[in-house]
Amino acid sequence: MCGIVGYIGDGNARKIILDGLKRLEYRGYDSSGVAIVKNGRIVVEKTVGRIANLEEKIISLPFDGNVGIGHTRWATHGAPSDANAHPHMNGDGSIAVVHNGIIENYVELQEWLREKHGVVFKSETDSEVIAHLIGVFYKDKGSLLEAVYQAVSMMRGAYAVCAVAAAEPDKIVAVRKDTPLIAGIGEDCNFLASDIPALLKYVKKIYLIENNETVMVEKNRITIFDEGRKRVRRDVFNVTWNADAAEKDGYDHFMHKEIHEQPKGIFETLRRRLDENGLICLDGISLTKEDLFGINKIYLVACGTAYHAGLVGKYAIEKFAGIPVETDIASEFRYRDPFVDDRTLFICVSQSGETLDTMAALREAKRKGARILSVVNVVGSSIARESDDVFYTWAGPEIAVASTKAYTTQLVCMYLLALYMGYTKGVLPEGEYRRIIEELRETPEKLEKFLENEGSILKLAKKLYKKEQAFFIGRGPDCGVSYEGSLKLKEISYINSFAIAAGELKHGTIALIEEGSLVVALATQDRLFKKMLSNIQEVKARGAYVIGIAKESNHEIEQHADYVIYIPETADEVTPLLAVAPLQLLAYHIAKLRGCDIDKPKNLAKSVTVE
Ligand code: AGP
Repeated sequence: MCGIVGYIGDGNARKIILDGLKRLEYRGYDSSGVAIVKNGRIVVEKTVGRIANLEEKIISLPFDGNVGIGHTRWATHGAPSDANAHPHMNGDGSIAVVHNGIIENYVELQEWLREKHGVVFKSETDSEVIAHLIGVFYKDKGSLLEAVYQAVSMMRGAYAVCAVAAAEPDKIVAVRKDTPLIAGIGEDCNFLASDIPALLKYVKKIYLIENNETVMVEKNRITIFDEGRKRVRRDVFNVTWNADAAEKDGYDHFMHKEIHEQPKGIFETLRRRLDENGLICLDGISLTKEDLFGINKIYLVACGTAYHAGLVGKYAIEKFAGIPVETDIASEFRYRDPFVDDRTLFICVSQSGETLDTMAALREAKRKGARILSVVNVVGSSIARESDDVFYTWAGPEIAVASTKAYTTQLVCMYLLALYMGYTKGVLPEGEYRRIIEELRETPEKLEKFLENEGSILKLAKKLYKKEQAFFIGRGPDCGVSYEGSLKLKEISYINSFAIAAGELKHGTIALIEEGSLVVALATQDRLFKKMLSNIQEVKARGAYVIGIAKESNHEIEQHADYVIYIPETADEVTPLLAVAPLQLLAYHIAKLRGCDIDKPKNLAKSVTVE
């Protein structure tokens, strides 16, 4: 997510804003910038890379002022670059803005600004549109507040915007819709920010700005207006967090926060890909009907959790699109001289977009003539740049080494790709297509509801956290999810955990099952449910302690498993989006009870850029 900081007071705006931006670095970003209003002018400095780069650039410029805005950018529209970094200005530099969110109708606004007002855009971003819109209305209204009102009335999407005007150095005007924004109450100074950590050093009292509210921040006054432009009285919120807790929104670990951010990530990843008729529109991916009929094989290649998303993706693509899919671990694919030609679609999945093995596999497939489609979370990452098509997940920055929200948003991309390909090829009936899309739409709310009953999983973790071994079993898509559940547990709790296809148990692994062995059995697939019950009985007969994961309708499992975690009813095809959540929470709480370093597990890195 992007970070926003605004300051007005007697202090040095440059220093205070930079300090605030540094406290937002944890959110993940690729560029940053500051705008300072001084002597009827606005000066802007912005750059890609770390905030230290910005600091270097700014120190050398002899400007200081008492009012300004700053921004850390997590690229959504337009790769990371100096030009795409915020703040953005209008043509004559009389207005500067910073923005967090997405302006959905920015293309039509760009056209309107070009045609009606001769605007020349300097960046590829949707955010720059806001600066020009406010500039146009400022010329007309002569008031920053009025100009912001007018500009916002034309915008659609989600946004937290802060704006300054060269001719009004006594205020900052901001507006909020579906993206967080707070106002900080200081002594002879006031603040704006995207969230609390940026301000914590300076203020403990804040106003939470609500949706569709506009706020005018002056040195000694903060005025909040509702959508009807009426002044709003707002209670002061007293911040009790310490700085470290604030970065995690009050959670003890980023991983815990990111598990709970999954409903939003799934919602955001879906929202942008469904048009007003509920049809899938894959922005920036040009897979035509001819292209699809020309594809006779798909490789789904990745590492770790991303690979596990591919295991589930395989089922969806083969079922809905009718194209054979081979999944492979990138470090194996790149050395086995795979059969690839120009009828191969190579799909690589990567949260960071920087994993060396995955990149190397991509290059091997490209060299052999495959079309490359990547599913990545970091805009402009190396893998994205070397792909023919990029399908971005909208998980937002994932900080914890153990991937959670990236995984579920990768699954959403798998489903959307599978449905899009099947429907475009005409092999997936519209009724089925719409049924699954509807099931996907309902997932965020179902997942939100499930995550609320986390207490029962904590209770279970208290019984299990001393275990030194664990087995995860499943069939079909559940098998892919069992691999992910096993990886979550092992990488943060260091318990010796492994996953195996349930049907494979009897071919050797069951020799390890003994009294008290922990077995997590995923049984969400109706047509495989009876088979899973037999596998549960097999391990129970040898003394295992079995945790069953099943849909609410499958109560029969209670006669066989020692403990059952029910997930909300949904189509079997999309149960992985829900079934993974109890496994993530179980791993998290067990690791926490074992006192492990959850966000930074030993020996692991967030992005593996080595062989
Ligand atoms: C997942 O929890 C691990 N951190 C790891 O397996 C990770 O998924 C793998 O290294 C791939 O990373 P990527 O998605 O950034 O390519």
